[in-house]
Amino acid sequence: MKLAFIGIGNVGFALANNLEKKGHEILLGNNNTNSETVLKAISKNNNFKVVTIQKAIDSSDVVFLATPFAVNEKILKALRFNDKILIDCTNPVGAGISHGLQSKISGAEKVQEWAPDARVVKAYTIYGFENLIDSNFPNYHLKPVMMIAGNDAKSKNTVGKLNSDLGFETLDVGGLDLALHLEHMTLLWVKMARRDGHHPNFTWAYIEK
Ligand SMILES: NC(=O)c1ccc[n+]([C@@H]2O[C@H](COP(=O)([O-])OP(=O)(O)OC[C@H]3O[C@@H](n4cnc5c(N)ncnc54)[C@H](OP(=O)(O)O)[C@@H]3O)[C@@H](O)[C@H]2O)c1
Repeated sequence: MKLAFIGIGNVGFALANNLEKKGHEILLGNNNTNSETVLKAISKNNNFKVVTIQKAIDSSDVVFLATPFAVNEKILKALRFNDKILIDCTNPVGAGISHGLQSKISGAEKVQEWAPDARVVKAYTIYGFENLIDSNFPNYHLKPVMMIAGNDAKSKNTVGKLNSDLGFETLDVGGLDLALHLEHMTLLWVKMARRDGHHPNFTWAYIEK
């Protein structure tokens, strides 16, 4: 697939680099030719192409949003998605590792509001970037689970294929309103791993009878 990335820092690079190795074409969307993260990303993987953000969206099948949540409104309102899948990898985090929108609405629903012509799927937020760099757990038969939420089944199916390429089992938790709960799982993970000393490669798994 052709995959566009808006934001190529810790999260964007980990996803783009692994997906490029699985044969996907990666377009880095950036309007700032001096972007430090873009320069670093292309120095580490010279198969990435850099174009403007709008050109990256227009030329891709799926767009990843991996920017600080605070800049999303301004970025998204200036763009046209023309019904493309937009994967929201961002988290609204407030003071004291709280939900940045006071748990009144998910960040993903705000992303959908700011990009009304996109099909938004929430994914890749329930862990730190360490598990996006390496999702391989050779001592286990289970794969780590990646929970996703969104309103469009076909888009979630596409994200599920990308999850498989990244080494995750997909768990579709439901509509985009459920992204709020995924964002709370993020806060739990961040408190456990970043604050309380759990290993940054711990993950959740899904088992059922
Ligand atoms: N870090 C984690 O473990 C983790 C895990 C899951 C989800 N998340 C979420 O993922 C998002 C990205 O986190 P990160 O750790 O990857 O951040 P990061 O390393 O700081 O990277 C942020 C990226 O966003 C770009 N960016 C910033 N402002 C921009 C703007 N106005 N227009 C276009 N691009 C802009 C930056 O480009 P420049 O270099 O040009 O500024 C950079 O490529 C956040 O919302 C975070 O909450 C983080």
